[in-house]
Amino acid sequence: MNPGEINNKLIIPAEDSASPIKSNEAEFIFDFLKEKGLSKTLETGFAYAKSASHIVAATRSRHIAIDPFQDHYQNLGIANMKALGFAPYLELHEDYSHNVLPKLVDRKEKFDFIFIDGDHKFDGVFVDFYYTDLLLELGGYFLLHDTWMRSTQLLISFIKKNRKDYLYQKTTCRNFALFQKISEDARDGMHYKEFFTLKATFSHSLISWMTSGKNSVLKRIMFYFKEKLK
Ligand SMILES: C[S@@+](CC[C@H](N)C(=O)[O-])C[C@H]1O[C@@H](n2cnc3c(N)ncnc32)[C@H](O)[C@@H]1O
Repeated sequence: MNPGEINNKLIIPAEDSASPIKSNEAEFIFDFLKEKGLSKTLETGFAYAKSASHIVAATRSRHIAIDPFQDHYQNLGIANMKALGFAPYLELHEDYSHNVLPKLVDRKEKFDFIFIDGDHKFDGVFVDFYYTDLLLELGGYFLLHDTWMRSTQLLISFIKKNRKDYLYQKTTCRNFALFQKISEDARDGMHYKEFFTLKATFSHSLISWMTSGKNSVLKRIMFYFKEKLK
C-alpha cells in the first residue's frame, strides 16, 4: 500500500487537520524507512495514526506507539489502523511516554527508527529524547517533528552542541529534524556546552497567537493572506 492509498483511507476530522503530520512528511517517513530498510520502530504521539500507518506500511513489522489520549481522538487512530489491516503490527501503549519509555529500556528493547511527536513542551520533548537515546541502536535514526516550535529548536541546539554521537541530517521537510546515532556517548560528567539560541522564538509566538481563540482584524488579515499563499 502506498502513501496515496493510505491517505484515502485515513479518517481524520477536518476541524483537527493540524494534529497529524502533513502528507509530504508522511511520504518522507515511508520512503526513508523503505530506502534504509529500517523495521524496529517506535513513536510518541499517535493521534489519528497518520505517522503510524505510514511507518507500518513501509516496514510491515511491529510498531510501538505511545499516546495517553486516544479517547480525545475518538479512538480513530486505532480504527484507522484496523481499517488499513495494520492492527496486527501495532503495539499501542495508552499512557504517557514518561511512563512507557523507561519500561521499554527495562525490557532491553532496541529500535532503529524513533519518531518523537508527543508532548511538545520543552521538558516533554527533552524526556522523549533522553529515553530515545537509551533505546536507539547504534546507526539508528530519530526524527523530531515541529521544528517551528521554540521547544524543539532548543532540543535540536542541545543535541548539535552537546551530543557529538549524533549526526544531523538535512531532509526535504522543513518541519522535521533527523539525527543518526553514529557513536557512543563519550562525555564526562562535567561536559556542558551552552545551547541557548533564539531560533523559532518569533515563529513560535506568531503561530501560537494565530491559533489562539482570540480574534482581531489583524489576525483576519493574516489568515486571508495565508489562504491566498496556499
Ligand atoms: C501532533 S499529535 C501526533 C500526530 C501523529 N504523530 C500523526 O502524525 O498522526 C501529538 C500527540 O501526542 C500525544 N501526547 C501528548 N502528550 C503525550 C505524552 N506525554 N506521551 C505520549 N503522547 C503524548 C497527544 O495525545 C497527541 O495525540
